[in-house]
Amino acid sequence: PLRLDIKRKLTARSDRVKSVDLHPSEPWMLISLYSGTVVVWNHESQVPVTCCHTHTCRHCSTRHSRRTFVVVLCARVFSDDMLIKLWDWDRKWTCSQVFEGHAHYVMQIVINPKDNNQFASASLDRTIKVWQLGSKMPNFTLEGHEKGVNCIDYYGGGDKPYLVSGADDRLVKIWDYQNKTCVQTLVGHAQNVTCVSFHPELPIILTGAEDGTVRVWHSNTYRLENTLNYSMERVWCVCSQPGSNSVALGYDEGSIILKLGREEPAMSMDSSGKVMWAHHSEVQQANLKAMGDAEIRDGERLALAVKDMGSCEIYPQTIQHICVGARFLTVCPQHLFLSSHAVDENIDTAVPSAWYAIREGNNMVKIFKNFKEKKIFKPEFGAEGIFAGFLLGVRSNSSLAFYDWESAELVRRIEIQPKHIFWSDSGELVCIATDESFFVLRYLPEKVSAAQESKEGTSEDGIEDAFEVLGEVAEVVKTGAWVGDCFIYISSVNRLNYYVGGEIITIAHMDRPMYLLGYIPKDDRLYLGDKELNIVSYSLLLSVLEYQTAIMRKDFNTADSLLPTIPKEQRTRVAHFLEKQGFRQQALAVSTDPEHRFELALQLGELKLAHQLASEAESEQKWKQLAELATTKCQFSLAQECLHQAQDYGGLLLLATASGNADMVGKLAEGAERDGRTNVAFLTYFMRGR
Ligand SMILES: *[C@@H]1O[C@H](CO)[C@@H](O)[C@H](O)[C@H]1NC(C)=O
Ligand SMILES: *[C@@H]1O[C@H](CO)[C@@H](O)[C@H](O)[C@H]1NC(C)=O
Ligand SMILES: *[C@@H]1O[C@H](CO)[C@@H](O)[C@H](O)[C@H]1NC(C)=O
Ligand SMILES: *[C@@H]1O[C@H](CO)[C@@H](O)[C@H](O)[C@H]1NC(C)=O
Ligand SMILES: *[C@@H]1O[C@H](CO)[C@@H](O)[C@H](O)[C@H]1NC(C)=O
Repeated sequence: PLRLDIKRKLTARSDRVKSVDLHPSEPWMLISLYSGTVVVWNHESQVPVTCCHTHTCRHCSTRHSRRTFVVVLCARVFSDDMLIKLWDWDRKWTCSQVFEGHAHYVMQIVINPKDNNQFASASLDRTIKVWQLGSKMPNFTLEGHEKGVNCIDYYGGGDKPYLVSGADDRLVKIWDYQNKTCVQTLVGHAQNVTCVSFHPELPIILTGAEDGTVRVWHSNTYRLENTLNYSMERVWCVCSQPGSNSVALGYDEGSIILKLGREEPAMSMDSSGKVMWAHHSEVQQANLKAMGDAEIRDGERLALAVKDMGSCEIYPQTIQHICVGARFLTVCPQHLFLSSHAVDENIDTAVPSAWYAIREGNNMVKIFKNFKEKKIFKPEFGAEGIFAGFLLGVRSNSSLAFYDWESAELVRRIEIQPKHIFWSDSGELVCIATDESFFVLRYLPEKVSAAQESKEGTSEDGIEDAFEVLGEVAEVVKTGAWVGDCFIYISSVNRLNYYVGGEIITIAHMDRPMYLLGYIPKDDRLYLGDKELNIVSYSLLLSVLEYQTAIMRKDFNTADSLLPTIPKEQRTRVAHFLEKQGFRQQALAVSTDPEHRFELALQLGELKLAHQLASEAESEQKWKQLAELATTKCQFSLAQECLHQAQDYGGLLLLATASGNADMVGKLAEGAERDGRTNVAFLTYFMRGR
């Protein structure tokens, strides 16, 4: 069985929908109505983007070319005939070929994705015909349906030469178009079948019918996995998109977008660099250590030797390494993937201890330790989801409650709707990510035990002082991990960042969605996976993370001992971090960038160092800045020198006259005259009566 998560994301009521399509990159759904209206919906913001009216329009599709969104509409402006016509887009839509052979209306054609010269047609004459471009007559005919055939689709994978068809005999048939036989007949629909589709990613076939249901069949076992009935009357069309888990459906009464399974790939890495993932039902493993010392560049796809681990009986939706005792195991939630134990519930595991929890229904939570059931309890506000970590998080429809694993007692309830929760290894810091932002909190176990003892500071929401909020960042975290006190994450706009002490540091901007697998300290690298199960890496120095962690903990001894391990080119970055944390003196000691050091020297009033840096830089701007500082510090001879270096005659004049220094005024006059600063020269001569 597949046990696919199926969620309804959008319901758009309208007149009869005859065709739907999904944009390949934008979150747009195009629907064309029987009435001739065409609407584009943004399925993320859930609003219609645009709308237009045409002739009666039956089929539409989108073509993506650069940034244009071309909508091709096919209107039945001609009378129905039994012909298929090829229209040439490049030659002003001239009809370049006619295909003859069907004895009744042609309902649909599809082009073979593996051979663009071949297409198949479905007709009310009860047949499917396969054609070659360039040949007027069909290549061959597939017969077997007992009533008109409404719809067909090619299987896109390379392993099977299959077609699927749906007909008014209420049957769905799978055909092998190489040996031209019907491989399987799927029985279940109670009315005419109107649309069929092989899903481009998942091992499923989707079929829709006039009985109002969409059925999900396993494309290998042909088992009926789900029957979806959204009570929108007859189903007319289904559309799925490669690389996406959205499926659009069109009905008599509107359209629906479903999300099937999870967006993230089922991939996990353990701390030794073994990566495990599921490719459809097959579980595979690769070892990063086996790559040797090959030079790796940031963002480059890693060439890994892949080992097959066998196949999962249940379609794995996530994979996660957990550590139980000294052993590492892999878990696919909804199914524990180890020594024939299978647990068919929502499960989340606590790393690195041996605790894990299982959610039963929407109100019970079972706690296990070392695979033994320890406790079962009913969270007061319901259990819509669970999050393992230092504490057990239980999400309800309005809040998040943290429980103690051992006692299953409430520690703290927070009004928040979390998507993900990430605990640091020490259990001291936790990041709670929501749909809009993320929060970093510090967990205060001393306050918790104090409150538990004294019974003070507790309410129905738990212990008030259990957490301290350190910061909120308006970014959506997709995946993340802690290294020390640094929270590394990938944001919804594909940015690889880390958060430390309230500051965000960007490591890379990526061109596609990536998922964080983990950090291997020994390699100083972060590993990321994408949907196609490629693995890439980015350099991130452990010494820098450790240094920043030490600074956050105000452990300057450790920080000082780490400093020599930080390469010179990283020092300035670290210095900027120190400065932002308010440690300017340390920043000045660490920075290697003269500009930064000069700024810091000015801020710290280090006139001598600033003077040295200004002389090295020979920058007029720096001399001016230093002159200003020297003046405020009443260091007039330094100020004079600086103004002189900056050739700031106006400043010199002010300084000389204000200090009543006739000698200086005299020298200034000569200098100014020599340099052609006539205004200043005139004034100085005038004042001295010359
Ligand atoms: C079908 O197409 C194949 C490949 O183009 C060709 O070799 C074969 O002769 C065709 N058969 C018929 C009956 O047209
Ligand atoms: C045609 O191929 C399918 C596999 O795709 C096989 O199951 C079936 O037995 C074959 N039929 C004939 C008649 O060779
Ligand atoms: C199913 O198709 C037949 C024609 O084969 C048609 O007469 C009938 O009305 C259709 N059923 C529904 C529910 O529309
Ligand atoms: C779909 O649901 C509606 C409303 O609950 C019901 O009337 C209808 O019979 C269902 N259809 C099927 C085929 O189960
Ligand atoms: C939230 O859950 C409570 C109790 O579990 C329930 O009474 C309430 O109706 C739910 N609210 C929503 C909006 O689902």
